[in-house]
Amino acid sequence: MRFDAAFFDAKSGVGHSSPATSDPPPSYNKTVGDTYILGIESSCDETAAAVVRSGEELISNVVYSQIATHQPYGGVVPELASREHLRAIVPVVRKALEDAGKTYDTIDAVAVTQGPGLADALLVGLSYAKALAYAAGKPLIAVNHLEGHIHAVLLEERQRGQRELQFPVLALVVSGGHTHLYLAEQSEAGWTYRNIGHTRDDAAGEAFDKVAKLLELGYPGGPMVDSLAQHGDPLAVKFPFAQIKHRDRNPKNRHSADERRTDFSYSGIKTAVLRYVEVQNMGEAIRCRREAISKLAKPTPQDFLAVCDQQTLDLVASFQRAVVDDLISKTLAASTEYGVATLLVTGGVAANSELRRTFEVRAADEGVAVLFPSRKLATDNAAMIAAAAYPRFLAKEFAEAEVSSNPALRLG
Ligand code: KG4
Ligand code: ZN
Repeated sequence: MRFDAAFFDAKSGVGHSSPATSDPPPSYNKTVGDTYILGIESSCDETAAAVVRSGEELISNVVYSQIATHQPYGGVVPELASREHLRAIVPVVRKALEDAGKTYDTIDAVAVTQGPGLADALLVGLSYAKALAYAAGKPLIAVNHLEGHIHAVLLEERQRGQRELQFPVLALVVSGGHTHLYLAEQSEAGWTYRNIGHTRDDAAGEAFDKVAKLLELGYPGGPMVDSLAQHGDPLAVKFPFAQIKHRDRNPKNRHSADERRTDFSYSGIKTAVLRYVEVQNMGEAIRCRREAISKLAKPTPQDFLAVCDQQTLDLVASFQRAVVDDLISKTLAASTEYGVATLLVTGGVAANSELRRTFEVRAADEGVAVLFPSRKLATDNAAMIAAAAYPRFLAKEFAEAEVSSNPALRLG
């Protein structure tokens, strides 16, 4: 039941152990002053820096999005991403410190995304953070990006004064690169995670992006699909999802035979949308849309809406409904299986309006609490990295000087 005793102890000096836990671990008993961590994130197409106080208060949050750079290509171009990170990282970090009223001297640690992500993009953030920590004489904390997404929710809950969390906790991390389910536990050594599900192919956000690209709805696709779907009939097109029964053939993803797992798959629905477009002869409408949109410097959702016929809007709404239903049904099934009390839903796709709305209703029916980050902290940011670093700071889990980035870093 304990959310994070360290936060109570740091503030009041009083030990708070919950009935579910034994004596508080020694590290939680000492009084810890305010800790300001500078977080740096560069794993994909956002260069971000933030300052977070003691894992519970967002002091500054700067996100430089590279959308304009990648938009003409309809997806992230890794070489361009690392070049943009190089250009942005110094001003972004300076602004985050300035907004927080902090300097290199007055922060307590530097936290940085170690992986997973694009190799060269990660390298920019990690090299910079390493040099900065070394020059300023501050400890460096390497953070898993997926753990960061989970801590985005925890940070905002603490900020609202909610420090009690009902365990067991199940986290759905659903973004452009990931669709993972983790059982999250908190112990005296910090947080630990057990992966009980993942996508066998595309991530859910990737499916949003690919379907949007196919329909010429711009990049990134998720926010546009979210907005256009509100004008379509979600029951117009049926997209059934198969239950995944066979074991994962990828040897890297093998788990013990008796573990109950919940896997996802989103490449099939993308192909189903493509088939629908072909069978319904929607190619001409898509070409017209591309031409109309290419004439606009900065097309808005209203511009896209104006060039979408009802059939396209119905298709988009049906696609979104199918993905949302699948994500929720599988997560709730896993939640029942593991007797979960609290669900955390996070990552870029957690910004989706229908996902948030429907999850809340269905989780309430099941008697499970569901928590989301604000939309600002659902997509990539550095506040989540600084927040995830705080328990590691308390445990003095600092990175070695030779730490390197890991594009395939796993969690749990
Ligand atoms: O977490 P994130 O910023 O980066 C990764 O770690 O991947 O997630 C980006 C993904 C993209 O695929 C984007 O299309 C999707 O999140 N996304 C959304 C929405 N906002 C962002 N998907 C559905 N609805 C949204 N409102
Ligand atoms: Zn992410």
